[in-house]
Amino acid sequence: MKLFYYTATGNSLSIAKSFKGNLISMPIHLNDKDHYEDDVIGFVFPCYTGGIPTIVEDFISSNTFKANYIFAIVTYGMTAVGAEGLFLDLAREKNLNIDYINKIRMVDTSLKYYDMNKQIRGLERKQVNKYLASIKEDVASRKKRSSRNPIMLALSKRGYKSYKDEIGLCDQAFTVEDHCTKCQVCMKVCPVNNITVGDGVFFKGECIRCYACTQNCPQNAIRVDNEKSKRRYRNSDVKLIDIINANHVG
Ligand SMILES: Cc1cc2nc3c(=O)[nH]c(=O)nc-3n(C[C@H](O)[C@H](O)[C@H](O)COP(=O)(O)O)c2cc1C
Repeated sequence: MKLFYYTATGNSLSIAKSFKGNLISMPIHLNDKDHYEDDVIGFVFPCYTGGIPTIVEDFISSNTFKANYIFAIVTYGMTAVGAEGLFLDLAREKNLNIDYINKIRMVDTSLKYYDMNKQIRGLERKQVNKYLASIKEDVASRKKRSSRNPIMLALSKRGYKSYKDEIGLCDQAFTVEDHCTKCQVCMKVCPVNNITVGDGVFFKGECIRCYACTQNCPQNAIRVDNEKSKRRYRNSDVKLIDIINANHVG
């Protein structure tokens, strides 16, 4: 089994890891223009603004896939709206037929809207392991599932468009505090190579607002305008080095 994943804070990687397949990071292999074949192929990624990260769309556009069974799992925090339907449609446009799609609710990492203290406290109620076990049973039995609610899909299309329109503007929301040690972790966890570190930390205007830099900063030195908490989050099954290995090209 090949598992393609994209993660900023570890939720999607923790789900991908639990399948014990061959893990392949989408950002690292984004421009390989490869052809992938296996008996089973899976995609695991977060919901962004009711849609999906542009990295995921770009990855399925620039590579080809062949498998007897293809599944996808969207991780999300509050509501994935119509992200599943949106992904099914985008995949179909790229001639990729998804047999099964489902979603799993985890900590919501969007610092702009949520307090990480409250999110972490509320995690147990989301019963991640219970839902994951059920999805794994479905995948093991090669169940078919597609989820396409037209109203939710329309909302997601709008959300996805506004998310894409904001790419490049997101940098302006960051402030780096004086206690930054210029350790370069922000640069290494950024999945779009948007950060350079020299005399200071510089953003190049291509931010996709994943918050990998802010959430994974060892000094907690990056602030986001109107952030809902100073507390940061990374999934407890995932180490900083895993995020670096997942996102750092070069
Ligand atoms: C930019 C951004 C937008 C998000 N939008 C949504 C959303 O629309 N709905 C939702 O339920 N969760 C949303 N989330 C939460 C993530 O989907 C969720 O926390 C996910 O599990 C993070 O995955 P990761 O740890 O693998 O990066 C968003 C997070 C970010 C950073």
